[in-house]
Amino acid sequence: MATQPVTTRIVLASRPTGKPVAANFRLEQETVRDIGEGEVLLQILYLSLDPYMRGRMDDAKSYAKSVEIDGVMEGGTVARVVGSRNAAFKPGDIVLSHSGWQSYAISDGSALRKLDPDAAPITTALGILGMTGFTAYAGLRNIGKPKAGETLVVAAASGAVGSAVGQIARIFGARVVGIAGGAEKCDYASREFGFDAVIDHRSSDFASRLEAACPNGIDVYFENVGGHVWNAVFPLLNDFARVPVCGLIAHYNEEPSISEGHNQLPTVMRGILRRSLTIRGFIQREFVDQRPDFYREAAQWIAEGRLKYREDIVDGLENAPEAFMGLLEGKNFGKLIVRIAQ
Ligand SMILES: NC(=O)c1ccc[n+]([C@@H]2O[C@H](COP(=O)([O-])OP(=O)(O)OC[C@H]3O[C@@H](n4cnc5c(N)ncnc54)[C@H](OP(=O)(O)O)[C@@H]3O)[C@@H](O)[C@H]2O)c1
Repeated sequence: MATQPVTTRIVLASRPTGKPVAANFRLEQETVRDIGEGEVLLQILYLSLDPYMRGRMDDAKSYAKSVEIDGVMEGGTVARVVGSRNAAFKPGDIVLSHSGWQSYAISDGSALRKLDPDAAPITTALGILGMTGFTAYAGLRNIGKPKAGETLVVAAASGAVGSAVGQIARIFGARVVGIAGGAEKCDYASREFGFDAVIDHRSSDFASRLEAACPNGIDVYFENVGGHVWNAVFPLLNDFARVPVCGLIAHYNEEPSISEGHNQLPTVMRGILRRSLTIRGFIQREFVDQRPDFYREAAQWIAEGRLKYREDIVDGLENAPEAFMGLLEGKNFGKLIVRIAQ
């Protein structure tokens, strides 16, 4: 009789107040049970770390359910099938799953998508050819709608979503100004992703440099950040500008009372009215029917060298909490992924 594997998992030990700390996570081990009829046993190879996970650690009402205390932290994963009692899967298959922060998982197969390792590196299913790439595509196609010659500004421009936004917008013919933290990320985004300008949001003259980089104003602002970046962008928005509100990472660690601080509502609402702005929040999965178009177009753009990506791979599940805490402070450089097994 084969020995059952032991799964290592990271659970939510307590809810953070402000920034998450190591004590909010706990590492546990447990022997995996036998799989039942229709089930598959997955060995997790790669885990995606994403900013939305911060929201799942709170118990505030949101668009998705919170992780329970003592529950396994949620997350997208790429896994190898190592046992199967499901006719659709055989050992050795590589699948996209949503198995969370653990090394083995059992699935009934319904939410798995088979990946072809010969078509693209399997990690891309968590990034450029996965949720983050699709977020960029859906936000641009449905809300930002950049036209040739327009100026698009994107925040967190060296990251998973932002780097794809800027490159796809350039494919659509827009002039792209990225915003990133620090000289290394800014240089990389202009050199590798081909952005027309990249401005460091940590520089003391950030707002004036952004204004100088956008002499014709801003027609599309792809919002990933909020905070001081939004404050610098907002006055530069042109009449009829579109703002896909994708994320507000600068605020994820704040208590609600802090972000409500100084009341900016009158300024923002006046701007929306006078400049006929379209500001529209979205969650990528509302455009799920466009995924086949995305897979086809993105694969072609990558093959043509027009859509590049950068991954930041951290080794070892035990290092996931620290890597995740770093993500919320800009320490990652590219799509953050944890390698759990080869
Ligand atoms: N709506 C959706 O369906 C959807 C789906 C996926 C992601 N998102 C959102 O998209 C955004 C980007 O996600 P991602 O996965 O691509 O992450 P990412 O850009 O790869 O990593 C996050 C980056 O955000 C920047 N950042 C962190 N804290 C910041 C702060 N206080 N002020 C300014 N910038 C800060 C950092 O870049 P710098 O060092 O360059 O500042 C950091 O590297 C997030 O807000 C996320 O929640 C939304």
